[in-house]
Amino acid sequence: MADEPLVLGIETSCDETGVGIVRGTTLLADAVASSVNDHARFGGVVPEIASRAHLEAMVPTIRRALDTAGVRASDLDGIAVTAGPGLAGALLVGVSAAKAYAWALDKPLYGVNHLASHICVDQLEHGRLPEPTMALLVSGGHSSLLLSSDITSDVRPLGATIDDAAGEAFDKVARVLGLGFPGGPVVDRMAREGDGKAIAFPRGLNNAGDPAYDFSFSGLKTAVARWVEARRRAGEPVPVADVAASFQEAVTDVLTRKAVRACKDNGVDHLMIGGGVAANSRLREMAQQRCDKAGIVLRVPRPGLCTDNGAMVAALGAEMVWRDRAPSSFDLSADSSLPVTETHVPGAEHGSVHAHAHEALK
Ligand code: KG4
Ligand code: ZN
Repeated sequence: MADEPLVLGIETSCDETGVGIVRGTTLLADAVASSVNDHARFGGVVPEIASRAHLEAMVPTIRRALDTAGVRASDLDGIAVTAGPGLAGALLVGVSAAKAYAWALDKPLYGVNHLASHICVDQLEHGRLPEPTMALLVSGGHSSLLLSSDITSDVRPLGATIDDAAGEAFDKVARVLGLGFPGGPVVDRMAREGDGKAIAFPRGLNNAGDPAYDFSFSGLKTAVARWVEARRRAGEPVPVADVAASFQEAVTDVLTRKAVRACKDNGVDHLMIGGGVAANSRLREMAQQRCDKAGIVLRVPRPGLCTDNGAMVAALGAEMVWRDRAPSSFDLSADSSLPVTETHVPGAEHGSVHAHAHEALK
């Protein structure tokens, strides 16, 4: 294995242009430019607006990250980029930029999985992940329980949502309550003023005989919408804080219960929680209580590293270099539905970007 490698990571799968620089498991820079305000009036991310914003922000954000880290681009050991999953057009901007830098600097290129990056980022906070690690991945597009024995090559899905992702449910409930977009942070804030036990919202797939590690949040979302609708129709005020807190309680109850169960069933004593929803204060609190009780060590990155960022991509890229994984080839594509099991996209057919660059320059 190499010395702790210096890697720059580029993330453009959604509405954050993230550029991170890490040395091994040490975070040196985490520059993020967000287009979130450009999407707010549409109530969700508009793919073309996101792509254009990435194009504008890319080079300045890379420059900012290099400045903050105090390193030169020529010192890098590799360039990592999110190859998927995510918005196709948005991913293409990051992948193209990563290729341009890798080509110009003659550095190896690593196309990595966004979801594995959300797990690997915890190495920047708590050191190398134990093997195996159970990961609860909860974001705007995914909610899964994953068992990983090596974050660069082995991520095994145990269960996932059968309908909405957890973050999607937060965003939809926020819309119903008129709280704006994105919903997670504002529901989290609102819920602090409310009573999580005020309303008994349903817990999806929580009965005996239901799949143990799968999730369902669509019924909960509908139950919240119906409850709010009934109050409005009756001309009664909607207790927004109580609804937010009770909804949040239902989501976090199911997520933490199933995650702890997955750890116990599989004899795994470490639980990692990653993805945007891992920034949720109640989820973090409840997970800590339940893990303490079950004798499980909980690892959750600080909130800023849970939501999309470039450092997580750099963290996984650095791990790829450290473990001597093959770089991606120059024909690396973006895959909007890259499966979680494909931690990175190697270039089997055409050799590494290095070989390509040298050949082209001959
Ligand atoms: O991982 P992420 O930044 O992007 C995706 O890969 O999807 O996750 C975004 C999701 C959004 O649905 C957002 O509402 C949710 O994470 N989120 C939260 C919180 N912060 C962000 N959900 C609950 N509580 C939060 N504090
Ligand atoms: Zn994400």
